[in-house]
Amino acid sequence: MDTISASDITPEHLFRSRREFVRNTSALILGSFALAACGSIASQPAAGGATVAPGQTKGTADELGDALTSFDAVTGYNNYYEFTTTKEGVAELAQNFKTTPWTLEVGGMVNKPQKIAIEDLLKRYPQEERIYRHRCVEGWSMVIPWTGFALNKLLKDAEPTAQAKYVRFESVMRPSEMPGQSSPWYTWPYVEGLRLDEAMNDLALLVTGVYGKPALPQNGAPLRLAVPWKYGFKSIKAIVKIELVDTQPTSLWMAAAPNEYGFYANVNPDVPHPRWSQATERRIGELSRRKTLPFNGYAEQVAKLYDGMDLRANY
Ligand code: MTE
Repeated sequence: MDTISASDITPEHLFRSRREFVRNTSALILGSFALAACGSIASQPAAGGATVAPGQTKGTADELGDALTSFDAVTGYNNYYEFTTTKEGVAELAQNFKTTPWTLEVGGMVNKPQKIAIEDLLKRYPQEERIYRHRCVEGWSMVIPWTGFALNKLLKDAEPTAQAKYVRFESVMRPSEMPGQSSPWYTWPYVEGLRLDEAMNDLALLVTGVYGKPALPQNGAPLRLAVPWKYGFKSIKAIVKIELVDTQPTSLWMAAAPNEYGFYANVNPDVPHPRWSQATERRIGELSRRKTLPFNGYAEQVAKLYDGMDLRANY
């Protein structure tokens, strides 16, 4: 997460088709500027990638009336450093990533540790669609129809012990399929964390699908997190391990740049990133910037988690 790609300044019509999108993004690269986190200046966007149609979604907008971001953008403009730092290149590099067999390990400070195959997880927990805003720390955002189930269901079933204070999430480590994991700049595997009460909040969603279909590899299939009141980097992809722990986990981004990325990472328009403002964002598919909402518009559901905390110190 260190620079913003040229496509962050790409106008709406470029998202209409993948091919057009890729072609035009290449042209815009010359005009790119180094700015943000979670991204990089795209050098050579990958052409092609699988063409997949969206499935049925129940809604067309979020609860604020904001329209869904296009399927092409949701599945063609991704941050996934295990593959590449180029957002437009992830889909193609990830298309042969093996999402089966897949086992999730739930352990640490729990009474009922378990290893669950993804198929059993899907059977055990009924899936629901939730339309969430997704705000990247780089200053762009989307509205995405995820399918999944509340993380708290899984956690309750595992029975955290009294010592458990945090939840640590770990992504898969598979350098043979994930070329980005050869990069020495990051401490692989990708790790994220939540305080236990944050993880128990009903908004925290374990995602298995996008746009009414099983999730595609580029979106973190077969299992990723969506924590919509936090910057996108907290929403870890390709999860293989969930551990209950008593000390605050160090995430990949905290290890990489501790002065820029904190543990909490709540969306907060009043606290700028050290290198740019967080007051506004560019909704992918829109031309002008819009104001960023505290907690990404989910304050009613989550602000109470932070009562009495200094949200500037705990960025
Ligand atoms: N998870 C893993 N394992 N690796 C990553 O590079 N990127 C994060 C997050 N989860 C990332 C990850 C960032 S910076 C963002 S903004 C979101 O995934 C992007 O999710 P999307 O590509 O589905 O929009």
